[in-house]
Amino acid sequence: MPLFQIKFMPENRIIQVESGTTLLTAAAQAEIFIKSGCGGKGTCGACKIVVLSGAPLVTGTGNLTPEQLAKGVRLACKTIIQGDMTVEVPPESRLQEHQVLLGDTQTGLLQESEHDLLEKFGHHPLATKQRIVLSVPTLTENTSDWARLNMELRRVLKAGEKPIHISFSVLQNLPETLRKADWNVSVTLTDLESGFVVTHVETGNDTPLYGLAIDIGTTTVVVYVINLLTGEIVDQQGSYNKQARYGDDVISRIVYAVESGEHLQEIRRAVVETINELIDKIFSRRSIKPTDVASAMVAGNTTMTQLFLGVDPKYIRLEPYIPTMSAVPPVSAREVGLHMLPEALVHCYPSVASYVGGDIVAGTLVTDLANGEDIILFIDIGTNGEIVLGNQDWLVACACSAGPSFEGGGITFGMRAMPGAIERVVIDSETLDVSLKVIGKRLPVGICGSGLVDCVAKLLQAGIIDRAGNFQMGHPSGSLRLRATDDDKEFVLAWAHQAGGQKDVVITENDVKNIIRAKGAIYAGIRSLLNMVAVDIEMISRIVIAGGFGNYLNVHDSVQIGLLPDLEPERFEFIGNSSVKGARLALLSQAAWREAEELGRKMTYVELSVGATFMDEYVSALFLPHTDLALFPSCH
Ligand code: FES
Repeated sequence: MPLFQIKFMPENRIIQVESGTTLLTAAAQAEIFIKSGCGGKGTCGACKIVVLSGAPLVTGTGNLTPEQLAKGVRLACKTIIQGDMTVEVPPESRLQEHQVLLGDTQTGLLQESEHDLLEKFGHHPLATKQRIVLSVPTLTENTSDWARLNMELRRVLKAGEKPIHISFSVLQNLPETLRKADWNVSVTLTDLESGFVVTHVETGNDTPLYGLAIDIGTTTVVVYVINLLTGEIVDQQGSYNKQARYGDDVISRIVYAVESGEHLQEIRRAVVETINELIDKIFSRRSIKPTDVASAMVAGNTTMTQLFLGVDPKYIRLEPYIPTMSAVPPVSAREVGLHMLPEALVHCYPSVASYVGGDIVAGTLVTDLANGEDIILFIDIGTNGEIVLGNQDWLVACACSAGPSFEGGGITFGMRAMPGAIERVVIDSETLDVSLKVIGKRLPVGICGSGLVDCVAKLLQAGIIDRAGNFQMGHPSGSLRLRATDDDKEFVLAWAHQAGGQKDVVITENDVKNIIRAKGAIYAGIRSLLNMVAVDIEMISRIVIAGGFGNYLNVHDSVQIGLLPDLEPERFEFIGNSSVKGARLALLSQAAWREAEELGRKMTYVELSVGATFMDEYVSALFLPHTDLALFPSCH
């Protein structure tokens, strides 16, 4: 296959690529990440690039206009390399670094709530290190090396009847290691219910012992390094999931992965590479050796977990939507390819169903939902809204598709919560003048999920939209902000000269309708679960909201538009990235990990697509705040 030279601008980065490669793939090879909402099908138009020189084969142009085509604009996923090229990747087509939700804790001690939970469960990490001094074998005391070590470990660990296993590769090196260390060794072990596993034997030393808490999100990946001996957070790092090059959502990734075994491996490698880069950055900053990292705990949704392990995700998206496994057996770091002690065990949070995954089980654990009589509602809001309801006696869970609106998808000026995103909106009801709060104190270039919720609430309050989300033209103020275009109606949040872009930043009637559909799905999911277990909204003592979007959400506005139930603000609590918090807790406490495994088994999954309840609730929720105003007494 001939190789061609592709130059990416403005980086001026040159790579050699095989003929027949798409520009989308070539860009990823050059470490330039281009948006690919549809996973390369040529339908979303997100991957626009400009061909500055060269004559590629173009297999599709999607919705590109004749003017764009004349300027050299092409879809990277439908542009096939067949010669040298120079290509410009415009800023709007790039995945950009944004606020990756690391949680509130940076380094040092755990947050108070996490610390309390750790005290409750007990600090007893999954991996430990033991200093062992063995007697030297003689002609008369001639037990084998492993029996000698096993016996001493059994005594030190007070192992009783619990078996002690040794990883094969550790066994292979054991004779040399013991003798080189003069029979004075440090042994790293993982304590599983089924027995101890020796994962490393080295010369006796007092080096620290670390673990990795990993949250694999569809969009972002976060890694925390934890000192297993002290329980302290050593460092953390987050970035985009490199799988984003295969599509923005889980469905596009599944579609790509199931096309061939090679694709599955490619998409698996992308996330492993993401994690390893994060690990390497922390290790070099903190001078940590991979061999000092003895344990990893991964929390992610069901698809992310299967893709991380290279398990075929095909049946997740086919009715009746069956994941391959709920509980995940531990695997070695060597098998999955993580940069840590090769035989260290990597644990993955169990999934409940195809669309209620380990991240939700982790969130349920840190919410401490299953340990009291009070009924608690846990919601993780993103593209999917995952909802868990219950107490110590029962737990039910469901997932509803909210669509990408809350993450900025399908909204004219939608964007993720990153610098330049509008996160708060105030509209003067008389003049329609606008004040904005923008992330990073930058000029506004778009609006993120929390800003959209705020904006729709303020549009309703100012009489700019009615309860169905229809724009009410002819506002008495005569403000030029409210205007009709050829195919929609819109309200100007920031004029072009005040905004960071070249156009006015607007919210359209169509955007408002998308938000109403998204909030309607979440609220309908909550109501469906409540109906199923015959629990009244008033009976919920606490509503715990997780996720990047949830972290910045305004409760008052969320109730006003009917996204969240109309309860006193004191009952709401935001816990940020509960997935990684659950990973940290389980890494540090065997009892917490056992409870997490139990939670996975205990949760009853409710499939909302069965029966008419969800649809009825959804249709009723397509108003602001709801068709039934009696459910929202504070809103009228
Ligand atoms: Fe290229 Fe969607 S159009 S990735």
